[in-house]
Amino acid sequence: MRFALPWAFAAVGALAAEASGNTVCSSSLTVASQSDLDGLAGCPLFVGNIVIDGPLTSANIPGIQMLQGSLIVKNITDLTSITAPDLVNITGALTLEILQSLSVVSFPKLKSAGDITFVTLTSLDTFQLDSGITSAKSLIISDTTIKSIAGISLETVDTLNINNNKFLTTLDFNLQSVSNILELSSTASNVEVSFPYLQWANNVTLRDIVSVSLPNVTAINSTLSFTNSSLQEISCPFLKTIGGSLAIVSNNQLTNTSFPSLTTISGGFQVANNSHLAAIEGFPVLQKIGGAIDVVGAFDNVTIPMINDVSGGVLIDSSSEQFNCSDWNNFQKMGGVHGDSYKCKALSSSTSVAITANSATKTGSRSATGTGSASSSSSSGGAYHVDVSSASTLGALAALIFQFL
Ligand SMILES: *[C@@H]1O[C@H](CO)[C@@H](O)[C@H](O)[C@H]1NC(C)=O
Ligand SMILES: *[C@@H]1O[C@H](CO)[C@@H](O)[C@H](O)[C@H]1NC(C)=O
Ligand SMILES: *[C@@H]1O[C@H](CO)[C@@H](O)[C@H](O)[C@H]1NC(C)=O
Ligand SMILES: *[C@@H]1O[C@H](CO)[C@@H](O)[C@H](O)[C@H]1NC(C)=O
Ligand SMILES: *[C@@H]1O[C@H](CO)[C@@H](O)[C@H](O)[C@H]1NC(C)=O
Ligand SMILES: *[C@@H]1O[C@H](CO)[C@@H](O)[C@H](O)[C@H]1NC(C)=O
Ligand SMILES: *[C@@H]1O[C@H](CO)[C@@H](O)[C@H](O)[C@H]1NC(C)=O
Ligand SMILES: *[C@@H]1O[C@H](CO)[C@@H](O)[C@H](O)[C@H]1NC(C)=O
Ligand SMILES: *[C@@H]1O[C@H](CO)[C@@H](O)[C@H](O)[C@H]1NC(C)=O
Ligand SMILES: *[C@@H]1O[C@H](CO)[C@@H](O)[C@H](O)[C@H]1NC(C)=O
Repeated sequence: MRFALPWAFAAVGALAAEASGNTVCSSSLTVASQSDLDGLAGCPLFVGNIVIDGPLTSANIPGIQMLQGSLIVKNITDLTSITAPDLVNITGALTLEILQSLSVVSFPKLKSAGDITFVTLTSLDTFQLDSGITSAKSLIISDTTIKSIAGISLETVDTLNINNNKFLTTLDFNLQSVSNILELSSTASNVEVSFPYLQWANNVTLRDIVSVSLPNVTAINSTLSFTNSSLQEISCPFLKTIGGSLAIVSNNQLTNTSFPSLTTISGGFQVANNSHLAAIEGFPVLQKIGGAIDVVGAFDNVTIPMINDVSGGVLIDSSSEQFNCSDWNNFQKMGGVHGDSYKCKALSSSTSVAITANSATKTGSRSATGTGSASSSSSSGGAYHVDVSSASTLGALAALIFQFL
């Protein structure tokens, strides 16, 4: 037996006695052997944290049905099995971390836990969760060899983070909402991620994934980001509002984006370095972008037909020969851009405008207060500072004339 402190040793005896007297078993324990765990068998309700830390090869937690506290098992090299046959409810954390030999995780009655963390479990195929966990505050599964998350079926969660699970081939979630962070990354190369019931999520980060389905999402409260994935298509048919930014960056197989219901992005709009995305379109009803536009790549056009209000600056930079800035230059000229800078760069021409307080006044109720940028050359009007760098003089001239019509 190895307890962290001598008093803890005494505590087990006391607990057993308390339990037989039908009282609550409570303490915070670090247990180091199976016999320590057996000592808890008379506690259907245990109040306190149980930390398993010792050279066990298997750990069985009998008797406890409700753990008002956390169960923490970390870094035990030879632990192959952890079972808790009676445990129904853990109010605190369930943490299994750095357990390279663990191949059996059996919690046949477990229905709820607070924060579930399964990290670095490199011998584990499946969880044995016969009842099924239907309630948890957060779920983190990282760096494991599990093949399925069957047995965990949550409708709501604060945080979901699933990353680096190379054998996880099915990821079908029952989630309806995610109130804080939803982060998926480095899924297996053949995994289809599906959130058929998800209606809203706060902050969504999808990175290094192959496929994702979000058919029912109507609102993202904060950021929605798709990064470095091999997605061919991004489709959010019912998404109406994004409370933060939309970022679609470095998705090298992406050919199509479809956001047919999206009207408002309160933060920035960033679509960058998606090498096969020929057209930035699929935003037929997007009217307002509360942050900046940052669009970089080899696209032929950036088509947001209903846009009427960009609160931040604009940077559009295309290396496609087809791309022409004139629509966006026109939009800027009409006062659609309220940030302090505007730059549109095509292969043959580039138009930069530093939008000053003066221009803001001129164009009406604008709040932009930026001053001239370093790269701008002064013009006589004072309202716009235009910097045109160009491969084609004609293009440059056109842009220049355009600015001062
Ligand atoms: C895991 O335990 C070993 C000793 O058994 C120790 O050397 C190592 O630092 C621990 N790792 C972590 C991440 O705690
Ligand atoms: C688990 O315990 C908490 C706290 O007592 C309670 O709110 C929750 O309903 C319980 N969950 C289940 C599935 O029993
Ligand atoms: C999508 O959300 C609506 C509104 O809650 C719901 O009625 C509908 O069943 C959901 N669709 C799917 C496929 O879950
Ligand atoms: C969203 O979550 C990611 C981690 O998943 C974090 O890096 C980022 O800062 C969060 N963004 C916001 C706006 O909270
Ligand atoms: C996110 O937006 C949805 C839909 O508008 C709303 O019901 C939910 O309360 C919001 N969540 C947060 C955390 O703001
Ligand atoms: C991008 O994804 C590839 C796998 O598709 C991975 O090897 C690479 O490390 C990722 N890069 C970044 C910057 O995340
Ligand atoms: C893009 O996807 C949408 C929705 O799936 C579809 O209607 C549209 O035809 C696609 N566009 C292209 C160019 O593939
Ligand atoms: C896009 O690629 C360029 C060139 O590799 C790089 O400088 C820039 O930081 C990338 N942008 C984003 C948003 O990743
Ligand atoms: C945008 O470019 C794509 C690809 O070249 C083309 O199919 C599409 O018709 C263009 N859309 C507009 C509105 O010009
Ligand atoms: C861009 O489009 C405008 C308007 O259609 C046209 O006048 C101009 O010549 C085009 N510029 C280039 C470089 O093709």
